[in-house]
Amino acid sequence: MTLPIRSSRLLIRMLSAGERDAFVAYRRVADVARYQTWTTDYSAADADALLADQPRAHLPTPGGWMQLALLISEPVDGELLVGDVAVGVDAAQPATYELGVTLAPAHQGQGYAQEALTAVIAWLMGVQGAHRVVMQGDARNDAVLRLARRLGLRHEGSVLEGDWFKGEWTTLERFALLRREWEARPR
Ligand SMILES: CC(C)(COP(=O)(O)OP(=O)(O)OC[C@H]1O[C@@H](n2cnc3c(N)ncnc32)[C@H](O)[C@@H]1OP(=O)(O)O)[C@@H](O)C(=O)NCCC(=O)NCCS
Repeated sequence: MTLPIRSSRLLIRMLSAGERDAFVAYRRVADVARYQTWTTDYSAADADALLADQPRAHLPTPGGWMQLALLISEPVDGELLVGDVAVGVDAAQPATYELGVTLAPAHQGQGYAQEALTAVIAWLMGVQGAHRVVMQGDARNDAVLRLARRLGLRHEGSVLEGDWFKGEWTTLERFALLRREWEARPR
């Protein structure tokens, strides 16, 4: 099965040019950008470069990333972008996938990230043959640490001041889920 993925409230497919302006708008919010690789001056040109770099297939090649759009249906606006999930494929271990997630502020606190990642993990494990899914977050980013735990990812450790990030040494928390752990999860 290829994309799109459907969950109870979301349509999940490759990010496309039609979502560009909404994507740029939330990437420019300080609270959204704080623990991410970009800064609040993220521009339409940056988004165009990201869109041009998306894989043509439904998964990136080893070492690459793709950006999935999280969309809800609105009566007036049609498909509305609430956020995105980044899926990376490990360069050395291509059955290992790294996930990142971002929601626009107006759509946080409603379970969309949990719903989206649950669906993407099921797709990677159940359909794409993933062996391992990993997430990492800045130790100060409570929302993403709570999310990883809610999803049932196992805390693998802290990389103490291992990352020179936006002008300071920061600590990363690492989480992982093996396919056999996912298959044995409580339903
Ligand atoms: C990380 C991030 C996506 C988490 O978003 P979130 O809204 O907290 O996560 P969810 O969408 O799963 O929502 C869960 C929250 O909604 C609440 N909620 C409300 N309705 C819910 C529902 N139907 N189902 C599940 N949770 C629900 C939960 O109780 C939870 O709140 P809590 O954490 O205060 O207990 C968000 O903080 C974000 O975009 N941050 C900026 C980008 C970033 O730093 N990303 C991390 C990079 S890896």
